[in-house]
Amino acid sequence: MKLVKHIANLGYGSRKQVQQMFRQGLVTDADGEVLYADDVVDHDAIRIEGEALDPAPGICLVLHKPAAYTCSTKDSGRLIYDLLPHRFRDRSPALSPVGRLDRDTTGMLLMTDDGALLHRIVSPKSRLDKRYVVELAEDLRGDEGAAFASGTLMLESEDKPLLPAELIVLGPRRAELVLHEGRYHQVKRMFAAVGNHVLTLHRSGVGGLRLDGLQEGQWRLLDAADLQQLFGSQD
Ligand code: URA
Repeated sequence: MKLVKHIANLGYGSRKQVQQMFRQGLVTDADGEVLYADDVVDHDAIRIEGEALDPAPGICLVLHKPAAYTCSTKDSGRLIYDLLPHRFRDRSPALSPVGRLDRDTTGMLLMTDDGALLHRIVSPKSRLDKRYVVELAEDLRGDEGAAFASGTLMLESEDKPLLPAELIVLGPRRAELVLHEGRYHQVKRMFAAVGNHVLTLHRSGVGGLRLDGLQEGQWRLLDAADLQQLFGSQD
């Protein structure tokens, strides 16, 4: 791929703007030698104003999503992209969330520009657990775990029962729920189905991956070892 297109695709500007950066001598190799738009150079050797390029396409990252951020590119309020380097919003292929978390939900959000990886993460065949910690408005009655594990619980306006899910009680109004599928507003609707109401919702893990000290609003790129952890023993 031509250097101009490669750099424009990473969100550094339109092709015209990137051409201009070449003309201004802002694009160099690692030794500071000015590069030209038709040079053939490895991604890792390119510098813009002395800085290494953002990672090449094929990334996956984990973001600890705070409340009040929307999983969208163009909502009017705070967006998950506001927590990432500004160029990440303009990358091609696009960097997309792997599934969505509600605006008020906190915790682990995966994002990738790799369509095959995204499909593999969300595919039921991968059987990746999603773990949520909830704070509830009402005390747990004691029969919710059995209802969630039954494989017969129906959500309102759906015609297919939920797959069995595990409930781990952490306190009178606090629990962890482990899901093996992802339906719209699933956790909130499950607790509504047993007469309760979710006050706060936090996703603590997906597959074998945990936030492991990543603070709210922070993100990090996943490497091959992280992906192996995500998919457990499948890799
Ligand atoms: N279930 C929900 O209800 N909301 C989320 O954000 C995720 C799962």
